[in-house]
Amino acid sequence: MMDMFCVEGGHSLRGTVSVDGSKNASLPIMAATLAIDGEVILEQVPQLQDVATMQQLLQSIGAAVEQHTDGTICVDARDVRSSAAPYELVRQMRASVCVLGPLLARFGTARVSLPGGCNIGHRPIDLHLRGLAALGADIRLEAGYIVAEGSKLRGADIDLCGPHGPTVTGTCNILIAATLAKGRTIIRAAAKEPEVEDFARFLNAAGAKIFGAGTSIVEIDGVAQLHDVRHTVIPDRIEATTLALAAAITHGDVTILNAPTTHMTYVLNAFNLIGIPIEATHDTLRIRAASIQRPARLTAEPYPGLPTDCQAQFMALLSTIAGKSLITDTVFPERFMHAAELVRMGANIRIQGNSAIIHGVTRLSAAPVMASDLRASAALVLAALAAEGRSEIRRVYHLDRGYHAFEQKLNQLGAKIQRTNDGPQNVVPRPHLDSLQPEKQRISYRHTEPGDHM
Ligand code: UD1
Repeated sequence: MMDMFCVEGGHSLRGTVSVDGSKNASLPIMAATLAIDGEVILEQVPQLQDVATMQQLLQSIGAAVEQHTDGTICVDARDVRSSAAPYELVRQMRASVCVLGPLLARFGTARVSLPGGCNIGHRPIDLHLRGLAALGADIRLEAGYIVAEGSKLRGADIDLCGPHGPTVTGTCNILIAATLAKGRTIIRAAAKEPEVEDFARFLNAAGAKIFGAGTSIVEIDGVAQLHDVRHTVIPDRIEATTLALAAAITHGDVTILNAPTTHMTYVLNAFNLIGIPIEATHDTLRIRAASIQRPARLTAEPYPGLPTDCQAQFMALLSTIAGKSLITDTVFPERFMHAAELVRMGANIRIQGNSAIIHGVTRLSAAPVMASDLRASAALVLAALAAEGRSEIRRVYHLDRGYHAFEQKLNQLGAKIQRTNDGPQNVVPRPHLDSLQPEKQRISYRHTEPGDHM
């Protein structure tokens, strides 16, 4: 059984809404608790499916995890004895690969399933492995698992630049491994995303010595052990942007509280380019989008650029603005699954290489559509809010992985979204496990499982 949304379009959003904690900051931090010799208390962790999956993964490895309804999660991994992360859990969420660094650092050995392919394009983990190897780990692939061994990791000078720029979760994996390695590590071409900075802030509060996180060169002095820590996760800049776009696409007037506006400079620039008035204080955004909007050329890039995780949602908005817009994604050049579904709603979009050329239409029209991944589902919801008529969006389980109570938040602002059950007929059988084994020599592979893995 899968949930779907029925969305009655055409209602302007109005009112105030609040942003939850960041999914992409929470997941690597939760994974890193495996390397901590003490009690960890995490605040402002969003109640999402991906967080539940990470919790399950930590528990399956042997950690004690308690989740409270106020968004606090307590983890105690002192009694963990296993260093293995099984395929059944890792395949559900790509960010599970974040346990690789912590397990290796703590036990000197880790056996973690390769995360598998995903619907947003080719996603190798060669940079994670290159970084761990540079710290002295011996790495091999065995029956779909990464086996990393290295009881005496040593600091090193590591360049983490890949063909599409830095790696966010890869930087986190190397940060934690280097923290418990002997001596000094320098990471060059580190990811500068605020989630990486938050990860380093968390580790430093637990006793790590990490300098320069949030810039492209990070230095780490190894320490012997990490201790008890309490940390508040940063708010989710992607959720804040999605809510702002929901206001924009419905020509509404919405105030967004707990928005990490200092992490949203390029997003705010994009709103400016499009001609949408937006007022920002350090933690509040107000979008008043009644006026005429302009087409724009946008490029999704590594931070501080426009996030690739907002590319689909901006495409939904630009589809409704008269004139020719262009969106390029340099981070995931194939991340355009949502375009075909938007076209089903009347959008005029052509994909050319890593770009989408969009000719805005006066009005999208409601249609039954299918979510292909987390951010694509958010884009479809935005499009449906603006469309004439009643849209049906199937496979919203993708959305539930990254947005807490999304339809409730939008409904409070005046949207008309109903969650219903789609019945079992739309369940796609998962491919047989044997067909998912990677080739021996390659670190990564793709398959067509309907997972999102973001
Ligand atoms: C994280 C985010 C995801 C976001 C992405 C890019 C989490 C849990 N997920 O994913 O929402 O879309 O950053 O901002 O934080 N690459 C390599 N080799 C590697 C690793 C990555 O070539 O070893 C490539 C990827 O294919 C991609 C680019 O580098 O083209 C960036 O990927 P990366 O930053 O690693 O994405 P994730 O950390 O998986």
